[in-house]
Amino acid sequence: MPEVEAVRKTWAHPEVDVLASITEWFTPLLEEADHMAAGINGGVRFTAEDDDRGDIDFVLDFVAREVRPYADEKVRYRFRTRRAYVEQLIADHEIDWVNSLFLSCRFSAQRIGPYNEFVYTFFKCLSEERLNYAEGWYTEQNEAEAGEMVELGGWLVQRRCAHLKADLTRFGHVDKGVLTCQMHGWKWRLADGKCLTSVGHDVRSEPADSSAARD
Ligand code: FES
Repeated sequence: MPEVEAVRKTWAHPEVDVLASITEWFTPLLEEADHMAAGINGGVRFTAEDDDRGDIDFVLDFVAREVRPYADEKVRYRFRTRRAYVEQLIADHEIDWVNSLFLSCRFSAQRIGPYNEFVYTFFKCLSEERLNYAEGWYTEQNEAEAGEMVELGGWLVQRRCAHLKADLTRFGHVDKGVLTCQMHGWKWRLADGKCLTSVGHDVRSEPADSSAARD
C-alpha cells in the first residue's frame, strides 16, 4: 500500500491549469467535429473534483464549439472524476480518455435521454488525426457525402483523404498537379489519381475546368 499511495501522489499536477489546457487542446477539435457536434447538439459538463484544492467545472459546448466554465445551465450529459486524474491526462496528453479514464471506472456519469455514442467517440478522438479519421468514417456512412468532391487548386478531388480520411479542404495542398495531404504528407498525381506514396489508395480527381465545361 505505501507504494500504491506513493504512485497515487504523483497523479496530481498542481502546475497544470486545467481549464486553460483543456480549452487550448479541445477547441480546435470541437471546431472540426461536425458529425459529433450534430449528434451531441448540446453541452457536456465535466467536473474535476478536489475537496482541498476546489473543483474545476467546465462545459464542452458542441453548439458554440467552445470550452467554457460551467454556468449553472442545463446540460444533457455530465461526467465527474477526480481533479488529479484530469491533471494526469493533461500532463500525459492522453488522446483516448475512454481507454485511460473511462475504462478505469474512476468516474461517474449522468445523462438525460438515451445513450449517445458521439459523446464517447469524441473522448476517444482527442487528437486531430483521430478526430479526422472518425469524422471521415461518419462521412462514409452517409452516401451523399461520401461522393462529395471539393475544388482544390483547379482540381476536383474527393473530400476525404484516401489514407486516413483527413478532410482535404483543411489538409489538402495542390502544387503542380500533385496533391499533398498535410496530415501525414502522402501525395497523389491528380491527372490520374494515382497515389505516389503507397500502392493502392488512389483518389478520385478531375480537372475542375472540364467539369465546368460539361455543365
Ligand atoms: S490522412 Fe494520412 S496523408 Fe491524409
